[in-house]
Amino acid sequence: MTPFTVRTLERADIDALLAFETENREWFQSHIDARDPAFYSVQGVGEHVQAYLSDFAVGAWHPFVIEDANAHIVGRANLKNINSPLGCAEVGYRIGQRFCGQGLATLAVRQLIQTAQRRWHLTQLVAHVYRHNVGSSKVLDRCGFLVDPQSWADETQKECRFSLSI
Ligand SMILES: CC(C)(COP(=O)(O)OP(=O)(O)OC[C@H]1O[C@@H](n2cnc3c(N)ncnc32)[C@H](O)[C@@H]1OP(=O)(O)O)[C@@H](O)C(=O)NCCC(=O)NCCS
Repeated sequence: MTPFTVRTLERADIDALLAFETENREWFQSHIDARDPAFYSVQGVGEHVQAYLSDFAVGAWHPFVIEDANAHIVGRANLKNINSPLGCAEVGYRIGQRFCGQGLATLAVRQLIQTAQRRWHLTQLVAHVYRHNVGSSKVLDRCGFLVDPQSWADETQKECRFSLSI
């Protein structure tokens, strides 16, 4: 059995989340857009968590954390911009550098797909990935997402669009 758990973000996660984001700041910045420097403080992460939980409460966002067996946060995943009338949402995820290559992003995306179906009754998921992000593309491919051929062919675009019908 995997020693890792994927669960919904909680208000009590602020300190652990700050530690996780700070430890992996450079790693994330080498793959995805940098966060505002003000984010890296108890107040910054506190406001971030509050915003995510408010969006969760109104059914617009479902934020998750991935924990190891010692309840340390090792990754994050989100169902973003949930649009219930249209039945769609976007997926996003990030895994701490020390924990990459163990299937955690794949585990998290599978959980996102299951939650999108069972809890939110969605039928379509999308993801936007920088074209050089081979690891992320591999995760999506393994979880059944298909790359939009147009976005793949257009090399002037930084990002490629992936989608999955569920
Ligand atoms: C991309 C990311 C989420 C992958 O997380 P992960 O937990 O390592 O992913 P998994 O282990 O489930 O699968 C990754 C796969 O890609 C492969 N991979 C990773 N980097 C690779 C690279 N540069 N070239 C080729 N394959 C690569 C891994 O070997 C693995 O495949 P395998 O299981 O067949 O060996 C993680 O590297 C990360 O958080 N990066 C920074 C943030 C980010 O890019 N988020 C995604 C934004 S769209």
